[in-house]
Amino acid sequence: MAEKAKFATRIGLVAATVGSAVGLGNIWRFPAEVQSNGGAAFLLVYIMCVLILGIPVMLAEFALGRGGQSDAVGVFKHFSPKSGWWGAGALSILASYMILTFYMVVAGWTLEYFIESVTGALYSSAEGADGKALENVFHNRMEEYIAGVTGSIACTVGMIIINLGVLLMGVRKGIEKASNILMPMLFVLLVVFAVVACSLPGSAEGIRFFLSPDFSRITPQVVVSALGQAFFSLSLGMGILITYSAYYPHETKLGSTAITVAALDLLVALLMGFIIFPAITSFGLSGADLRGATLVFVTLPEVFANMGAPRLWSSLFFLLLFVAALTSTISISEVSVAFIQDRFKRSRRAACLIVMLPLLVLSSICALSFGPLNEVQLFHLTIFDFLDRLATNIMLPLVSILICIFIGWFAPSTLLRNQLTNHGTIRMRLYPVILFIIRYLAPLLIAVVLVSAFL
Ligand code: PHE
Repeated sequence: MAEKAKFATRIGLVAATVGSAVGLGNIWRFPAEVQSNGGAAFLLVYIMCVLILGIPVMLAEFALGRGGQSDAVGVFKHFSPKSGWWGAGALSILASYMILTFYMVVAGWTLEYFIESVTGALYSSAEGADGKALENVFHNRMEEYIAGVTGSIACTVGMIIINLGVLLMGVRKGIEKASNILMPMLFVLLVVFAVVACSLPGSAEGIRFFLSPDFSRITPQVVVSALGQAFFSLSLGMGILITYSAYYPHETKLGSTAITVAALDLLVALLMGFIIFPAITSFGLSGADLRGATLVFVTLPEVFANMGAPRLWSSLFFLLLFVAALTSTISISEVSVAFIQDRFKRSRRAACLIVMLPLLVLSSICALSFGPLNEVQLFHLTIFDFLDRLATNIMLPLVSILICIFIGWFAPSTLLRNQLTNHGTIRMRLYPVILFIIRYLAPLLIAVVLVSAFL
């Protein structure tokens, strides 16, 4: 069998993995989750989830991928051919498709906001307004947009077609190269915005909300949300990192790669916190009246309106956010495309169509759940929220438990050690700790969190 293609450089592979991790999860979902789960208390639990569970689970996925040299289903078949373990891989693919369905809607919002920033439409009615009035302008704008039918469906469909084009024309590599330059730019831009937001009058209260925890607010629900957010943001439990790490060269140090990826991902999330929460209090919002999902799209334009040349900043930001969303939607689609291509022996073209075309309907339904379909609820959640909660808070942790149990107990016992120490050529002092977490602590802790949320 031909050797799988390898990432050429260490920077390239870290960049690709960071590129997958950093996306709407950090910029759109993280602040919304902090907001609806009580601020700093959530942040604290989130950081603990990343450190204690996220990094070890990431290492387990890396070991499976690089050791098994296959896709999310293939690695389980490779190590345990006659068992039903491949089902864990299948579950991860299902979760990734559900996530793709609603992620596409938010990606469509970034497209809409980019267009409106360039044309200036977003800021035309904001002239002369400040404080609460400014807030109302952007709030109403977002509410109108997502509650409408044509606009929100058009952008969702637009985003799906752009994805299909990129997947079919094979210009994916070009986009990824470009994103290696654009993502650092996004990062610099976020630092600028954070400085601006933190120096707004009244920002201190927002910083306090974000940083000083009220422990009484930590409930099982908060812990489940923090865990789900950690897995979502690190792209865990979706088969993505298994697939990527199969392309890592043998001498890549998995330990330091995992730490770098987790640290950068966390940093971007923290920067967003330092932008959104100071802005919320500075503009006199209670925050409570904002729907979590729309938080970023209301608050950021306010920050831009307070900087000189808002259209310029806004266009730049939403362009970069659009690219970040696109690289993520493409990498999530790739999980399903590769699966259909390999397992059902379809051409790449057919696989792309099979994956993307149903989204035209599914994602549009999700988009409408903010408007006409708002009343259609499952377990008291809109269709959008239901998909998000089920996939993020339940399926990702569940797949992660299965991956840990598989690596810890069923795969060859040398797999993890060999992969983490590059066959004994590098030292890994924390190996016993990682092994302990993967075998006992992670499955147990994740299971407890999952169960407690339902009690
Ligand atoms: N981790 C990405 C984010 O935070 C989402 C993602 C999930 C991307 C799975 C690729 C694969 O937005």
